[in-house]
Amino acid sequence: MTKKIEAIIREEKIDDVKNALKEIGIVGLNVSKVRGHGRQGGISLVGRSGPYQVDMLPRLQINIILSDHNVDKTIDTICTAVGTGSIGDGMIFVFPVEEVIRIRTGERGYEALMYPGDIDVRQESAVAAD
Ligand SMILES: Nc1ncnc2c1ncn2[C@@H]1O[C@H](COP(=O)(O)OP(=O)(O)OP(=O)(O)O)[C@@H](O)[C@H]1O
Ligand SMILES: [Mg+2]
Repeated sequence: MTKKIEAIIREEKIDDVKNALKEIGIVGLNVSKVRGHGRQGGISLVGRSGPYQVDMLPRLQINIILSDHNVDKTIDTICTAVGTGSIGDGMIFVFPVEEVIRIRTGERGYEALMYPGDIDVRQESAVAAD
């Protein structure tokens, strides 16, 4: 089974999380800019004409498609890399994925998801070495 992890993080944490994910063998991912708010509804700022509410705060969204047995480790890695303990640290959403296709080769599913030296290939070589 394949899953998608969608993590919404603080912009300044992107290098930390990218490095931590690389360490555990996550190879393919994509990042996009998003704006939004969580349960505080944004933040209040004080301007010259008084306080005002900024309700769409900039964040980065990281998408990773991966085998479901790697989901927990990847979530732990993201939380450790981006967590500050303060409000606004972000959210992680996990979705089921129907299909994966590598356009160049036409490979599908697990074949399309594998990259040389990635988290799955490392596990396979660890098992083979036992
Ligand atoms: N329910 C949601 N659906 C979609 N995106 C969300 C949701 N909640 C938060 N986000 C996104 O995550 C970003 C960060 O959310 P945030 O960390 O403030 O969540 P929170 O639930 O308010 O937690 P905290 O109390 O720690 O602030 C938001 O700016 C928004 O982009
Ligand atoms: Mg919040």
